[in-house]
Amino acid sequence: MLSRLTSQKIPPLRPVPCLSEDALAGLVRAPRSMPPKYFYDDRGSQLFDAICETPEYYPTRTEDALLAHYAGEIIDQVRPKHIVEFGSGAARKTRQLLDVCDELGGAAAYWPFDVCESMLLESGRRLVRDYEWLTVNALVGDYLAGLQHVPRPPGSCLYLFLGGTIGNFSETQAQRFLHDVRAQMSADDHLLLGADRIKDVAVLNAAYNDRQGVTAAFNLNLLEVLNRELDGDFHLPQFEHQALFNADDSQMEMYLVSSCNQSVTLKALQKTLDFHAGEKILTEISRKFTPERLNTLLTDAGFNVVQHLQPANGYFSLMLAKPVI
Ligand code: AVJ
Repeated sequence: MLSRLTSQKIPPLRPVPCLSEDALAGLVRAPRSMPPKYFYDDRGSQLFDAICETPEYYPTRTEDALLAHYAGEIIDQVRPKHIVEFGSGAARKTRQLLDVCDELGGAAAYWPFDVCESMLLESGRRLVRDYEWLTVNALVGDYLAGLQHVPRPPGSCLYLFLGGTIGNFSETQAQRFLHDVRAQMSADDHLLLGADRIKDVAVLNAAYNDRQGVTAAFNLNLLEVLNRELDGDFHLPQFEHQALFNADDSQMEMYLVSSCNQSVTLKALQKTLDFHAGEKILTEISRKFTPERLNTLLTDAGFNVVQHLQPANGYFSLMLAKPVI
């Protein structure tokens, strides 16, 4: 029997900076910053899952509820032969959609795209076990490095970019990514985009400052990653988690704040970083959108919005869009 689980590497079209390059560019001088993708080592991924369980962090459960409620409608409208997901992770939410495909008689193939092959294979094995009609073709690579090498299977595709991860991109990155996706698509393909919304600042701040300190541990874990990968000596107790809403830019910002004057050495880079007390590293932006902004973002990238799904409180949006042909 041919295996229903395959995996292939997607070569980058554009060069992707590695951790050392990002650290050299981002950490050596102020204003210091690191790209948020380095949060997600094994421990970081576990901590992110734990964040989603905290009572304060609403995005994941809001999006899950939306998907549970509208999966039937979406699949019925789109009738995908293929589901391609960027940043699939453990692919938990995707099951809501696959369950509906199951009821409609299956026949979709799932193409999860992520950096971590072991995670793709692990979740892929579970999926082919649970859905006996499903083929899983894992795509291993960086979806920000261009998509032209992503296979274009025949038949309608549903592209998924969920979780609000679009909010972690700068405006330029977001536009380029949506443009790349659009360039892959044919007339009867769809994109389903999940994005977090502007809301009461207290709700936003609580979501990134949960009382159990899980988000703080997630943020600080970045320093563990740097210590391990770059032979660093960050002393975690001397840094503090900070998350605040920047209203001007409509984004949550996460920082690691040095609690004293201190020097940190990254041996692998042969660099010493001098922090003064209160000095910060920007570790993540998480943009919060208005429905109008989401419409413009998609329209500018060459999409027509065909459905805007949101809960009564307007906490999160799922946008279903088609390419303008
Ligand atoms: C799911 C990656 C979009 O920005 O809200 C959670 C990551 N950071 N808590 C987000 C995150 C802090 C999350 N994303």
